[in-house]
Amino acid sequence: MESLNNAKISGTGSYVPEKIITNNDLERIVETTDEWIATRTGIKQRRIADDNVATSDLATEASKKALLDANLSAKDLDLIIVATATPDMSFPSTACIVQKNLGAYNAAAFDIGAACTGFIYAITLGNQFIRTGMYHNVLVIGAETLSRIINWEDRDTCVLFGDGAGAVVLQKSENDCGIISSYLGADGENGHTLTQPAGGSRLPASIETIESKLHYIKMDGNEVFKFAVRAMEKSALRALVDSNLSLDEIDFLIPHQANIRIIEAAAKRLKLSMDKVYVNLNLYGNMSAASVPVALDEAAKKGFLTKGSHVLIVGFGGGLTWGASIIKWTK
Ligand code: ACO
Repeated sequence: MESLNNAKISGTGSYVPEKIITNNDLERIVETTDEWIATRTGIKQRRIADDNVATSDLATEASKKALLDANLSAKDLDLIIVATATPDMSFPSTACIVQKNLGAYNAAAFDIGAACTGFIYAITLGNQFIRTGMYHNVLVIGAETLSRIINWEDRDTCVLFGDGAGAVVLQKSENDCGIISSYLGADGENGHTLTQPAGGSRLPASIETIESKLHYIKMDGNEVFKFAVRAMEKSALRALVDSNLSLDEIDFLIPHQANIRIIEAAAKRLKLSMDKVYVNLNLYGNMSAASVPVALDEAAKKGFLTKGSHVLIVGFGGGLTWGASIIKWTK
């Protein structure tokens, strides 16, 4: 085992399906308007995977780009972690399917479930494997096909979500860079506010569960909204304390992309200018575990993340779960 060096992000990649569903398209499906969706959420459109495309397909495409960016071959990977709430199936894990697709035969592979906070949990785990010296090249992916678990007749939820995938390659950083702090939290007591009730061992698929539409996302939007603002603020502040940094030293905030009002409310509480916040939910909606890595990849490719800058990533979601990491950018 080697020393406890942080992991750095040496490559990023993302992939979203081509098919776009705009708010105007949704007006033809449920009783809603572009104006309601845009003003209440900030979302204008989302990407939806074709029927023959599963989460692992999106994850594989994002991963190929991240590997290219990191100048690494799939055979060099020793661990693949996929964060998803919409795996291809219970098992094999989506991570094992991605391993096969990439030909990453030297890698261990597993999925983790922390809903929309999944990528923050996964990158924190990946960092620990690097820090202990157990693994050297870790691929961390957030990937979702939420369109498969949305009730397209429920205007409360169907307007919010989209499909996509983002990936990062983690490697040992030299110096004191990379992922310099991480904070994770959970509150199972309030898990009932955001659920997919059926399809697991509690309520296996049956004619009754299908007729009752229990395989779709159920959400208490107002409760989740209040939780989300508090969770973002708490997570960001805890990660700052652990890194000995002040908010002034944060160059860029990349939050989970659920609702522009949640992001603006959290930024206001943190007294952080929206100029420092990356937002792309207008284009993609809420992609759950894929939101943060897709935004991270876009921000990196657009040149917003420069060497030495401090990037704060924050997430919240079903479980309930929340978390944040601060990354001293090295590329
Ligand atoms: N179009 C038109 N009207 C609608 C729609 C719609 N798509 N959806 C709801 N409405 C109506 C409601 O029926 C309600 O009508 P009523 O007053 O006649 O009862 C009215 O709009 C207001 O509804 P609210 O729920 O109070 O609207 P709100 O401003 O709270 O916005 C929203 C709802 C967007 C869901 C908000 O609560 C929210 O964003 N919550 C957090 C959601 C979230 O972040 N979820 C994911 C987090 S975790 C994860 O990512 C898995």
